[in-house]
Amino acid sequence: MIGAVQLGVLAACVVLFVPMGMAGWHLSRNKMLFFSGALFITLAVGVHLSPYFPSISHFLMSPSGTVVLGDGRGSCLSLLHDVVWDVKPARLKRPVSYADGYMNGSSKSSAYDRELSWSWARLNSVLECDFQKLRSSDASDLLNGSWVVVAGDSQARLIVLSLLDLVLDSDQMESVRGDLFKRHSDYRIMISGIGLKLDFIWAPYVSNLTDLMLRFRQNVNFPDVLIMGSGLWHMLHVSNASDYGVSLQMLSSSLVSALPFSRELGNDGPVTGSAPIRSQHLFWLGMPNLINSMLNTEEKREKMNDLAFYSYNMELHKSRILRQAGGHFLLLDIHSLTQSCGPQCTEDGMHYDGAVYNAAVQIVLNALLIESNQKL
Ligand SMILES: *[C@@H]1O[C@H](CO)[C@@H](O)[C@H](O)[C@H]1NC(C)=O
Ligand SMILES: *[C@@H]1O[C@H](CO)[C@@H](O)[C@H](O)[C@H]1NC(C)=O
Ligand SMILES: *[C@@H]1O[C@H](CO)[C@@H](O)[C@H](O)[C@H]1NC(C)=O
Ligand SMILES: *[C@@H]1O[C@H](CO)[C@@H](O)[C@H](O)[C@H]1NC(C)=O
Repeated sequence: MIGAVQLGVLAACVVLFVPMGMAGWHLSRNKMLFFSGALFITLAVGVHLSPYFPSISHFLMSPSGTVVLGDGRGSCLSLLHDVVWDVKPARLKRPVSYADGYMNGSSKSSAYDRELSWSWARLNSVLECDFQKLRSSDASDLLNGSWVVVAGDSQARLIVLSLLDLVLDSDQMESVRGDLFKRHSDYRIMISGIGLKLDFIWAPYVSNLTDLMLRFRQNVNFPDVLIMGSGLWHMLHVSNASDYGVSLQMLSSSLVSALPFSRELGNDGPVTGSAPIRSQHLFWLGMPNLINSMLNTEEKREKMNDLAFYSYNMELHKSRILRQAGGHFLLLDIHSLTQSCGPQCTEDGMHYDGAVYNAAVQIVLNALLIESNQKL
């Protein structure tokens, strides 16, 4: 495997020698400077765009050891989002709006008149990772005794709903739904059967997440699993990507002081069966794919356009929050999940079918298994 340094040297040689070679072909000095400049810019742009093409950045990053894990399943983390979707024919059913479907506590993906399911792609590389959809009992064992915090906007709330749906039975779920969908409020639940403490913190802006980090630090208490992310509210109500970048910088520095960082992995070798997780696990909840024509207000269609999304995403990748940029959060790539699921999976171009968040929860659980060196 070629390392980043070798690639750098190679790039420097290309910039230097190709134009010199051309000079040998009797190009004028100005032309040579032009070619040299053009090559330099191409390479520089290539390097800066590479984080947006996971396969390239994975190739560039892996030798420097961004994701080093004991048992060689570390590379599997990058394959967790390789899922495929399957749509069963429409059931004859009155379509219900997003709010109805979730507020009334009817069946799982009641908001849509079709049955969506997903599975990991059947590619060799993915099959080798042996990802498993955890059943309720596996998830309960894995999360036994832990404190899970999910903080963010409605996307985060849908993640909580999916997680609870996995560990609770349907009667318990009925009573949860109503509480969880009181708009714009926090929600806390202690599931005593498995000693799982789950907090949803309503945090539509990054500044709310920063406040949360400060609270963790004050209380000298940090959750075992933290899933958080914001962006959509800022995009709609502030519409200033560089300001979003500034707030991410502030979050990033608050993290440095808040995180206990006991991230070293257990050296007891792989554990069979799912034992409870120990150290902190951090996930950044990415923004969904926004389907502009389906957004339900004029203001959203105007402000949440492709360019805005791109600039906001760029700021996220520039900040040192995600692991691929040297931070601590594994990206829960809702964008790639929602994009691969497509328009068939959403009614309002922003909130997606339960199956998407269900996949996201299974991705989190499988990442926890990988990081705590366990197999089912
Ligand atoms: C949802 O609740 C509203 C009122 O709260 C009611 O009018 C509507 O019929 C309910 N929908 C379903 C599918 O139960
Ligand atoms: C959770 O862990 C405790 C102690 O570690 C154990 O007694 C209990 O049976 C576990 N519960 C489940 C549901 O696994
Ligand atoms: C979140 O932050 C915004 C802007 O800083 C603030 O106005 C709002 O009150 C905060 N919300 C919560 C729930 O803390
Ligand atoms: C956007 O945010 C930046 C950083 O907070 C600020 O300097 C700039 O003035 C803002 N731009 C607009 C148009 O408000």
